[in-house]
Amino acid sequence: MAVDLHYSAYDTWVANAGLPIYEGWGIHPPDLKLAPWELKGMDAAILHLEAMGQQCNDFVLEMGPGGSSKPIRQMHEELIYVLSGRGATSVWLDDESSKRTFEWQAGSLFGVPQNATHQHFNGSGDEPARFITITDLPLMLNMFHSEDFIWNNSFNFLDRFGDDGYFVGEGKMHDIREGRSWWETNVLADADHFELRPWKDRGAGGINLQFNLANSSMHTHISEFSPGMYKKAHGHEPGAHIVLLSGTGFSLVWPDNKHWKGNGGGFDEVVMVPWKKGSIFVPKGFHQHFNTGTDPARYLAMGFGGFRYHIGRDTMGTKYHSFGADVSTRLGGFQIEYADEDPAILEMFEEECRKNNSQSNMREYLKQFRDVN
Ligand SMILES: [Fe+2]
Repeated sequence: MAVDLHYSAYDTWVANAGLPIYEGWGIHPPDLKLAPWELKGMDAAILHLEAMGQQCNDFVLEMGPGGSSKPIRQMHEELIYVLSGRGATSVWLDDESSKRTFEWQAGSLFGVPQNATHQHFNGSGDEPARFITITDLPLMLNMFHSEDFIWNNSFNFLDRFGDDGYFVGEGKMHDIREGRSWWETNVLADADHFELRPWKDRGAGGINLQFNLANSSMHTHISEFSPGMYKKAHGHEPGAHIVLLSGTGFSLVWPDNKHWKGNGGGFDEVVMVPWKKGSIFVPKGFHQHFNTGTDPARYLAMGFGGFRYHIGRDTMGTKYHSFGADVSTRLGGFQIEYADEDPAILEMFEEECRKNNSQSNMREYLKQFRDVN
């Protein structure tokens, strides 16, 4: 038998999984057609976003009315946001007495404790329940190149399971500083309305909170910003998988990743990714978020590495990343301050607001940062 000398265990698994694969800059999971995934006993699709990064992929999973998934262990991380439906999930280690069951509904967010057996139940007899999930399966499969290791592994991570209260809304706040404080828990019953905190350095009246779910190596944060406003552009490594929880708008991505040269410096290439509740995209290079709606825009970002567990040099939460994400490029950071921004951004945003029959609130707001007519 010929030996594949350029082997990717993840690509091989994907090719054999028989699941639909969707690709692009932005994808709208609520609309996707799925196919049965025997392994989990759920319908599924694999998402490969343009800037998915090296470590993580996304799945869309669905259980039919009254359905349940197969109990399974998996030696990879998984964070799950409930797009629609309601139900419950049980997680347990070897000992059945460890079993904990928690309920969820559209807008809930939870982490599956690594390699704990888990099973999902659709609580409705009439409606399907659909998840969007992010996992580090690409990293784990490629690193160990053994499907048996991933899905037939008996190791118990006792420290990932979490306190009983972490399944029912309790947690622990770690106050670091604005934009860096994080809440430790396993389940957010309502990520769409979880109380966030001001993070003024990112602009646009933004609020934010970081999370660590199920003692994961992955990061999670939720940000929200005001109607008719846009945040400051910034740049970092790809890998923040962003799910739109509320609001309308778009993001600009400058994927060539050239360093910003100051006012009027510009970029060679720009991609506009439209926003819609339930959509997912991953920015790459510099990027900027715009709310062209009349309600606050809230998004959930999840990716590899985090504020609790620093992995690699550039991933979310590391010293390098933490320093620069809200610091001006003029000071060695990766954020383009409003004062340095290309003036064409404001004109373009106002045009998009007009198309959306909404009001831009940016022109007045920007006057504190630069001369605006
Ligand atoms: Fe970002």
